[in-house]
Amino acid sequence: MKGLTTLKDLPVSKIQEIIDTALLFKKGELKADYSGKKMALLFFENSTRTEYSFCTAMLNLGISPIYFNDRGSSIAKGETLYDTVKTFESFGIDGVVIRHSKDEYFRDLENIQIPIFNGGDGCSNHPTQTLLDLMTIYEEFGRFEGLKVTFIGDIAHSRVAHGNNEIMRRLGMETYISGPEQFADVTAPYISFEKAIEISDVINLLRIQFERHTGKLDMTKEEYFERFGMTKKREAQMKDNAIIIHPAPVNRGIEIADDMVEGKKSRILKQINNGVYIRMAVISMVLEGKL
Ligand code: CP
Repeated sequence: MKGLTTLKDLPVSKIQEIIDTALLFKKGELKADYSGKKMALLFFENSTRTEYSFCTAMLNLGISPIYFNDRGSSIAKGETLYDTVKTFESFGIDGVVIRHSKDEYFRDLENIQIPIFNGGDGCSNHPTQTLLDLMTIYEEFGRFEGLKVTFIGDIAHSRVAHGNNEIMRRLGMETYISGPEQFADVTAPYISFEKAIEISDVINLLRIQFERHTGKLDMTKEEYFERFGMTKKREAQMKDNAIIIHPAPVNRGIEIADDMVEGKKSRILKQINNGVYIRMAVISMVLEGKL
């Protein structure tokens, strides 16, 4: 299958090549023009960052984006995801970006010939989010080896935690988990929240995904913020050069205090900015046959 659906099969050298290409785009030292090409954005779940930064990346590369409204489409008549994507392929377009609630939906799309860019599948993968997180960390520290990262929040429902943990470990980072034990389903040691604040180079906060919960959060939102929320006091206890990342959208006043979203250790807006360059790098490398 062409495109980028998961990072699990990608060697670390290729991950580094994507980040280096994104950095060149960001510095204006690399330009690419794919005028005349068209790609569709097939989002079956809500999105702001992923959908519109893919769109921005396409426009920066001269590619025309095609929007898709699943509620106004023939999906409502029972058309399958495969038939929908095959229809777009038949239009003669050059790729599709897909976000879907089904874990590894791309396994159903083996017969699709055009590149597929995964914008997030169920609770499993969000490869361009992982790459933009890695780019943000690499810009900060200039390396991955030996850095300590702790995931805090709704790990169980997080495709970001599942995707990041796997590749971060392959890159030589030490990963830990913390926060509510009811969400602790990633293979990494559990440490107390106080320990996480003390030892981490990167605190990877995660949104509480209320829309995916079948059960209930074991505590009130106020209690969550009290026990696990990122506050100015906790920020002051972090290492001097440590950073806070969060895939966003954030629940202000739950995972993070309102005034911390743009605080001095927060790299949340930088992550969003880096997302455009990572998506430019991924699209151009796929179109050039390098990915
Ligand atoms: N981080 C992220 O995937 O955000 P969106 O849901 O807004 O795309």
